[in-house]
Amino acid sequence: MKIAMIGTGYVGLVSGVCFSDFGHEVVCVDLNPDKIAMLDAGQVPIYEPGLDDLMARNVGAERLSFTTDLAQAVAGADAVFIAVGTPTRRGDGHADLTYVYAAARDIAAALTGYTVVVTKSTVPVGTNAEVARIIRKAAPEADFDVASNPEFLREGAAIDDFMRPDRVIVGVETKRAADVMADVYRPLFLRDFPIVTTDLESAEMIKYAANAFLATKITFINEIAGLCEKVGADVKQVAKGIGLDGRIGNKFLHAGPGYGGSCFPKDTSALARIGQEHAMPMQIVEAVIKVNDEVKRRMIDKITDLCGGSVNGRTIAVLGATFKPNTDDMRDAPSLTIVPALIGGGARVRIVDPQGRREGEALLPGATWAEDPYSAAKGADAIVMLTEWNEFRALDLERLAGLMASARMADLRNVYAASDLQEAGFVAYTGVGRAGFGL
Ligand SMILES: NC(=O)c1ccc[n+]([C@@H]2O[C@H](COP(=O)([O-])OP(=O)(O)OC[C@H]3O[C@@H](n4cnc5c(N)ncnc54)[C@H](O)[C@@H]3O)[C@@H](O)[C@H]2O)c1
Repeated sequence: MKIAMIGTGYVGLVSGVCFSDFGHEVVCVDLNPDKIAMLDAGQVPIYEPGLDDLMARNVGAERLSFTTDLAQAVAGADAVFIAVGTPTRRGDGHADLTYVYAAARDIAAALTGYTVVVTKSTVPVGTNAEVARIIRKAAPEADFDVASNPEFLREGAAIDDFMRPDRVIVGVETKRAADVMADVYRPLFLRDFPIVTTDLESAEMIKYAANAFLATKITFINEIAGLCEKVGADVKQVAKGIGLDGRIGNKFLHAGPGYGGSCFPKDTSALARIGQEHAMPMQIVEAVIKVNDEVKRRMIDKITDLCGGSVNGRTIAVLGATFKPNTDDMRDAPSLTIVPALIGGGARVRIVDPQGRREGEALLPGATWAEDPYSAAKGADAIVMLTEWNEFRALDLERLAGLMASARMADLRNVYAASDLQEAGFVAYTGVGRAGFGL
């Protein structure tokens, strides 16, 4: 198969590289010439474990190339994937479809033989139909179908998720398009990964429903965590106790500082708006958005309490800035709410993050960046564990306590046990949904 991938961000690049690894001939397109120049030079513009090696292998096999020339990539392709961003539109919380529709117009002008135009971006119901209308209007003679193929990969585990998916969703209107999509995903089909074929609208809805459900599950345990703190229960034990129930499952039950990232905030917001527009308010999702905002604010109160009621003049070491480990993605990370609040309250903030600094420096003005947790903690009044990178999971707690002016920790990911911190010489600790000490 010949595939054009429009957009080489976290989804487009991973998908393009993985499709080429399936044996397809893939051309990845991006508007951003700097990204394409980096890719042409063999550099990966994002941090995603394993992506550099897989990319090099497929470039070497001459199945994978990069260009800014969309027309050249689209001409002769069997399938053209749209994997551009769909961020929240300023002002109203809707998904901004500007990039998707612009890509559709560019694709229309470049179509040659029969082509399936596949939307991989997360888009509201009706977008694929609109993409078809745009192409038909711009190129009435074009021989094409549209397909909806939402992506479920997780940053940080993206290659494995793409290569070993729980399922692939393919929304189509014609058998011809279904056949092309079956060829595209044949390597997964042959290995018995479920390929679910639906209509366009259901495929579009599945993606929003999945993300809203996951955001709800996280928010549920975060709210339970707040109550655990009040009643003296430990949310880790509670999560384990409910997660062993097969109907509930143990994933997405880790209490923390509230969800962030490139998808949940914008997708819950878009779903809430879609519901309002159709006079079918998504009341649960609206509550989730509100509770998640409160959870994030509660974290600032926790850190303030840990510091004795004010962070003014305190030096705070923040471990982790990205929205989760194993990515450099800073979009809607909890750090973007918490760090400015601390700096606004008069704290000096030092951040350490294995991959977040390149993006984070501009996004978190006023903070300084340290190379490792120990230099960040030197002379500090508190440590805030914000992103549970592996390298923060087995710290020398005694050494940390010895370096700090006052050994206090807000562990917002519940990585450490209170007893271990106490033994190491910490004088105060607060976690999420469990008892602290020294407060
Ligand atoms: N990031 C994730 O983990 C994830 C997971 C599943 C689904 N999604 C969805 O996938 C879509 C893409 O997300 P992302 O995180 O990869 O976005 P991104 O912002 O990382 O990448 C988008 C890329 O598209 C390029 N682009 C925009 N318009 C273009 C055009 N007309 N022609 C060529 N290139 C163009 C941009 O320059 C950018 O490089 C979104 O709809 C998102 O919701 C993301």
